[in-house]
Amino acid sequence: MTQRASVGRNDPCPCGSGQKYKKCCMLQKTGLKAESIADLYYRNYRIKLKTQKDIEGIRTSGRLVVDTLRKVEDFIRPGITTNQINKLVHDYTLKNGAVPAPLNYRGFPKSVCTSINEVICHGIPSERVLNEGDIVNVDVTSILNGYYADANMTFFVGQCGDDAQKIVEVARESLKRALAVVKPDNTLGDVGWAIQEYAEGQGCSVVREFIGHGIGKVFHEPPDVPHFGKPKTGITLVPGMVFTVEPMVNLGKRFLRVLDDEWTAVTRDGSLSAQFEQTIVVTEDGYESLTPYEL
Ligand code: MF3
Ligand code: CO
Ligand code: CO
Repeated sequence: MTQRASVGRNDPCPCGSGQKYKKCCMLQKTGLKAESIADLYYRNYRIKLKTQKDIEGIRTSGRLVVDTLRKVEDFIRPGITTNQINKLVHDYTLKNGAVPAPLNYRGFPKSVCTSINEVICHGIPSERVLNEGDIVNVDVTSILNGYYADANMTFFVGQCGDDAQKIVEVARESLKRALAVVKPDNTLGDVGWAIQEYAEGQGCSVVREFIGHGIGKVFHEPPDVPHFGKPKTGITLVPGMVFTVEPMVNLGKRFLRVLDDEWTAVTRDGSLSAQFEQTIVVTEDGYESLTPYEL
């Protein structure tokens, strides 16, 4: 079977939307304004491309999220409880005129997620005390003037062992490599691949059940952003797309179990898990983090 030199007008669009090429990405190429890219992305994927005003709103909310994470970082030490982290995040968020998005979200009972050691994500703050050598992920989402921003970091509690150092480093580098491939014309598959290829290459595994997500005036919206995938597959990135990238990386196998509280996700094999998350916007020549911190 020979391959056609190029895709025909009436062929399925190579972006995988299921639309005809002429009704989809061909419009980008030709510059035809029959339908704007924003209309196209909404019609094909329910993705709401963001306006400059939206981006400014998410950026302002994101600044508060990162400030909050820095406060948490300063506060973390052996002997504190995750309830104390919850109180710090809750009070600081309200003091800054924002609302903590997790509180009552689908029944989540607290204002922040705190995930210790083998907890992958969605750990519920409690009277549990942090011990020297633990790692703890703190995931903060604020709603400021109607705009959501979502970011997390994994912290060391005092001095940590080699396993902890390794998984935190691999998780951090996974997000860094993912962000490095975010630019127009690359795809969400490229982003997932950058993470999977690196993390698995380090002998770690990538969680499949929880993924990044579009975000804006709601917490979770299209697109889905898997942290695994194949190059040149999935939705093509275009300026104005806002989404999170938040790879959860396990030291052992990728499989998980959710505890009876119906939130806490833990590694099935009990191995350590770490995560870093930022909210980003695709720009003309790459991306801008709306929750910027050094990786
Ligand atoms: N912040 C998480 C995310 O990155 C979602 C937490 S939902 C909650 O998408 F209900 F657990 F807060
Ligand atoms: Co998120
Ligand atoms: Co989050």
